Amino acid sequence: MTREREAAGTLGVALVGFGTVGQSVARILIGGAEGLRLVRICNRHVARKRVAWVPERVSWTESIDDVLTSDVDVVVELIGGTDPALEWMRRALEAGKSVVTANKQAIAHHGTELFSLARRYGGRLGFEASVAGGIPVIRGIQEGLAADEVVRIQGILNGTCNFILSALASSPLAFETVLADAQAHGFAEADPSADLDGLDAQAKIAILSAIGLGRRVDPSAIECRSIRGLETGDFDAARTLGCAVRQVSTAERMEPAGVRAAVGPALVRLDSRLAQVEGSENVVLVDGARGGQTGFVGHGAGGDSTAVAVVADLMAIARRDGHAATDCFPIDGEPQAVHPMGARPYYLRVSGGTAAATQLAACGVSVARSLDVANGCVRLVTAAVTGAEVEAAIETLAAGSTRISAALPMLDGAGGA
Ligand SMILES: NC(=O)c1ccc[n+]([C@@H]2O[C@H](COP(=O)([O-])OP(=O)(O)OC[C@H]3O[C@@H](n4cnc5c(N)ncnc54)[C@H](OP(=O)(O)O)[C@@H]3O)[C@@H](O)[C@H]2O)c1
Repeated sequence: MTREREAAGTLGVALVGFGTVGQSVARILIGGAEGLRLVRICNRHVARKRVAWVPERVSWTESIDDVLTSDVDVVVELIGGTDPALEWMRRALEAGKSVVTANKQAIAHHGTELFSLARRYGGRLGFEASVAGGIPVIRGIQEGLAADEVVRIQGILNGTCNFILSALASSPLAFETVLADAQAHGFAEADPSADLDGLDAQAKIAILSAIGLGRRVDPSAIECRSIRGLETGDFDAARTLGCAVRQVSTAERMEPAGVRAAVGPALVRLDSRLAQVEGSENVVLVDGARGGQTGFVGHGAGGDSTAVAVVADLMAIARRDGHAATDCFPIDGEPQAVHPMGARPYYLRVSGGTAAATQLAACGVSVARSLDVANGCVRLVTAAVTGAEVEAAIETLAAGSTRISAALPMLDGAGGA
């Protein structure tokens, strides 16, 4: 029955989660999207969620069982989080339905299981919206760059961090003030930890590693550093070095297996594509061995832009073409090893140490350039070192009175290094 309707080109869609993205998806479907019919909306506390612009032919429910026992063809999961979203996606796939989701944590951490279920029960699993919101980067890599051999993916994958870092660079306000402003304007969640500390971007770069590099990894193995604690002086120092501060996510393909990967604040050259992405935008730069670098830029979040990606997956399922993704996520074998990034220069802010350079040298970190001394802090650039060497120096110096309170890698020749 379901398959017949798919073949006839009219997919019955159930929307689970009528929040920011869910409402935008509903508006597109109600406005008319070829081959798709919104038939059901599932959310807790329906009485509170009901809106007049949803036509009466669409039924409302608070029960996922109503959805799973109905004859809808596709379940669109837009409640977010793991519990109960993951279990509901499992059950939908086991019921032979296709699933479309924007849930990066579920795909990054449980993709293998979900894609296995999709394969076993014949459903499709679309996840374009799980990375970089409305930017069609999964489809772009999988289809557009199919003939290339992708060796590196680097990007700004968290709009909240980019908004905060852009704001800090252009004002003397303190981190906490800028964060509170971002929260007040809806650019940051009430609990911003997943964004600021890198867990959101960690899940996204893990997904990109799987579909772009063919290297499925355990997301939690990717090193994450927080953007918390950066201050105006760091942004001034970055400018002196011809750089901007960005939260950068990187995954590099290693041969014959594994990746180098990291997420965290870094200095990037002002003339780089990463620096030119301002505010809440995202960018994904894909380096191919054959085609060189390809960039994807746009709105990485927001109800309408994310809904565009969700509905694109639905349309792909309705068309029955290859890209609602079941076959593009590598599910066989164990997750591959994640290695730290290689040696590069670091920008350091060191406080409490009058002889920071000497102390760092004693830890094996040599100073290539001292920038300034202000408010008891020394700002400097090191020679190329690994993250582990910087961590070791932080620990060693903390045993005395010297504190390395900011340590940002400088990427791709930043600072003329
Ligand atoms: N917003 C964006 O810009 C964006 C961008 C990219 C990806 N995403 C992803 O898209 C998904 C949805 O995000 P969103 O921003 O639309 O979230 P949201 O505004 O918080 O909406 C979530 C909806 O799901 C409902 N819900 C939550 N838990 C539920 C449960 N246990 N049972 C029934 N309903 C439940 C909520 O109901 P209540 O109203 O009662 O809370 C709310 O209506 C997430 O995976 C998110 O990461 C969002």
